[in-house]
Amino acid sequence: MDIYKEDACRGKVVFVAGGSSGINLGIAQRFAGLGATIGLISRKQDRVSAAVASIKEAGGQAMGIAADVRSYDAVEAAIRQVRDAYGEIDVIISGAAGNFLAPVVGMSANAFKTVIDIDLLGSFNVLRASYAHIRKPGACVISITAGQAIRPTMFQAHAGAAKAGINNLTQTLAMEWGPAGVRVNAIAPGPISDTEGMARLAPTAEATKALKSKIALRDYGTKRDIADLAVFLSSDNAKYITGAIIDCDGGSVIGDASADALTIPAR
Ligand code: HXC
Ligand code: NAP
Repeated sequence: MDIYKEDACRGKVVFVAGGSSGINLGIAQRFAGLGATIGLISRKQDRVSAAVASIKEAGGQAMGIAADVRSYDAVEAAIRQVRDAYGEIDVIISGAAGNFLAPVVGMSANAFKTVIDIDLLGSFNVLRASYAHIRKPGACVISITAGQAIRPTMFQAHAGAAKAGINNLTQTLAMEWGPAGVRVNAIAPGPISDTEGMARLAPTAEATKALKSKIALRDYGTKRDIADLAVFLSSDNAKYITGAIIDCDGGSVIGDASADALTIPAR
């Protein structure tokens, strides 16, 4: 079956945490374009409303609720509202995140805790609250992680630690929920163009050029690259994939692909 053909996701209900912008909104828009019904949350009502409007303007069906993933009760209420409106949820995308560049000695305990709370506790809240409302068997859960989880990066101790926790949570839940027919995976995007994340992590043209020179494919990815992987993971074509942390990063995480510091000796 062509998993990207028109209407391929019709009948599916997709819940996206952190769905008001960037990569997560790109995922929501892609599923909606393939016929799925979308429920999305983020903190700010105006951003939620704009995201829902963008989906509806393109002909899709969506609802949005302002909820902070740091509040279990708010997340649970939002997921329940989506389930009550649209039925059992087929796909959960857990992608809410916060980030800034800071060395460990440049961040307060509250700064570290803030990112852990949004990324890791927030993921726990979304996944834990979703269980009662997802289709069993058949649901597919996807967390959005990052390569920094396994390849530590300076000034990213908070986000790297949080994403490492998300990787472990993903694989633990894959085992706990597998018997119920629920698959749990994570996508680790590399640097993705036109996102808040890259605006924060590589804010200048110079930083962008330097970063691209270290990537095997020498370029940033697109939101569509990540969205297409999410659609694949949710499809029957991926029915035997669970507990996987899948890099979609142009080869970013495998190592520094620049040869600048190396000189090949004459033979
Ligand atoms: C040091 C900082 C800081 C900075 C904030 N803090 N920015 N410390 N350097 N640049 C500190 C504050 O001083 C405060 O500590 C604590 O963090 C909480 O700050 P608040 O502003 O009160 O938090 P909050 O309003 O909850 O906002 C969360 C946020 C913000 C993460 C700080 O930037 C945000 O809302 N971000 C959401 C959007 C986002 O970041 N998108 C990019 C995701 S990209 P004190 O001690 O003063 O109280 C991404 C890429 C992944 O995740 C790739 C790598 C893993
Ligand atoms: P983004 O546009 O800032 O997306 C983050 C989303 O999370 C926003 O919709 C934001 O909306 C929401 N959010 C933040 N804090 C929240 C909270 N406490 N409760 C609920 N929602 C919250 O950033 P992005 O760059 O596209 O990143 C999206 C995901 O991809 C993140 O998980 C990030 O770690 C991951 N990632 C990104 C890159 C990259 O290149 N950009 C690389 C690797 C991984 P509100 O402000 O309205 O809450």
